Amino acid sequence: MDDEEEFLLLNPGPVPVTSDVLESMAEPMVSHRSTEFETVYERAQDGLEYVFTESSLSGASTVDDPDAGETLVFNGTATMAMEAAVTNLAGPADEVVSLVNGKFGRRFARIAERHAESTRVETDWGESIPMDAVADAVTDDTEVVTMVMNETSTGLLNPVSGVGRIARDHDVTFVVDGVTSIGGDAFHVDDWGVDVAITDAQKALAAPPGTSAMYVGPRAIDRIDGESAPFYEDLDWHIRKADQHQTPFTSAVPLFRSLAVAVEQIESEGMPARIRRHRRQAAAFRDGFQAMGLDLFPDCRGATVYSNTVTAVSLPDEVYGDDADDLFDGVDERNVSISGGQAHLGGQIFRVSNMGQLTSPQVERGVRVVGEAMADAGVDVDVEAGLAAAREYL
Ligand SMILES: Cc1ncc(COP(=O)(O)O)c(C=O)c1O
Repeated sequence: MDDEEEFLLLNPGPVPVTSDVLESMAEPMVSHRSTEFETVYERAQDGLEYVFTESSLSGASTVDDPDAGETLVFNGTATMAMEAAVTNLAGPADEVVSLVNGKFGRRFARIAERHAESTRVETDWGESIPMDAVADAVTDDTEVVTMVMNETSTGLLNPVSGVGRIARDHDVTFVVDGVTSIGGDAFHVDDWGVDVAITDAQKALAAPPGTSAMYVGPRAIDRIDGESAPFYEDLDWHIRKADQHQTPFTSAVPLFRSLAVAVEQIESEGMPARIRRHRRQAAAFRDGFQAMGLDLFPDCRGATVYSNTVTAVSLPDEVYGDDADDLFDGVDERNVSISGGQAHLGGQIFRVSNMGQLTSPQVERGVRVVGEAMADAGVDVDVEAGLAAAREYL
């Protein structure tokens, strides 16, 4: 089977994984309290620490003191890590300000509503966060600010550094969901004032789903109250065990192995090259789709820009609403998988990811297959113009 026929997963997670990552999960089982497992966890921690703290275009470290933070891996996806961050840092009487301009910003707000006093700074999904409203909402009485860096539901990149400055001005703990950016885009921990950063295995780290990772900076370490959190999410306990390269409870051994291999592959590519590749591939998708005659969905203003990992495109009238299946069926028939819109954006947009290890021909195939499926569904698109525009970046 040649590359043109192979199944191509372009959903914004899970993303394709390499054969080395896959094969690592088939090794014989070991105890999660064995030295063999501790070695695996340490490899994962080292690779993740590299990703969390050296994701700059120059390759320079993004933290002043590399020994001051902690890198944790959880048996559970990023939603668990989001809940762990909120519940360890805020109690029922504490105020958490959550920025919402998409599904995952809303998820953080919902977690905060369940466990603390929650205030939302909210705008329509796909619109830019109003920074003046953030500045008004965050006060000296705020305990935690949560935000999503790359809003996967809409394909826009929110301005972490601006929000971090506001949080620092009020000495507020700043928690950032970098689930679909960390490992694929630049991430500046100290310059952006980030206290807790979260990512998921199955996104830009290109590992299988089931685990997530957290970087806890020194200010957050001082502020954590593990006993206020759900038993499974006590971060004091997770940090104590992570120092011994173990988890408090049984570790998902095969998934930790696959994560260790995935982050070592990232380190071999090097974050500066990886960031540049992701930026080129996202630009290829954006320009490719626009050149064939489609419109991008997000409304990016000010410091808010298009995502470098997820591209969201508005569905034209011919494949809008109930007719969207005509497009998605046409893409499926060509053995490619893309995503529609989530919640109320269903039938309004489609989304593709360039997270992980995609090659230029795979990106090109994504542009072509969407164009051909659009044309089959009666949309007037110029597929060749789209491909020519995409190739400029590949
Ligand atoms: C930005 C963002 N945050 C959080 C999550 C939650 O991840 P999970 O469903 O793996 O817990 C996702 C998943 O798509 C995401 O894209």
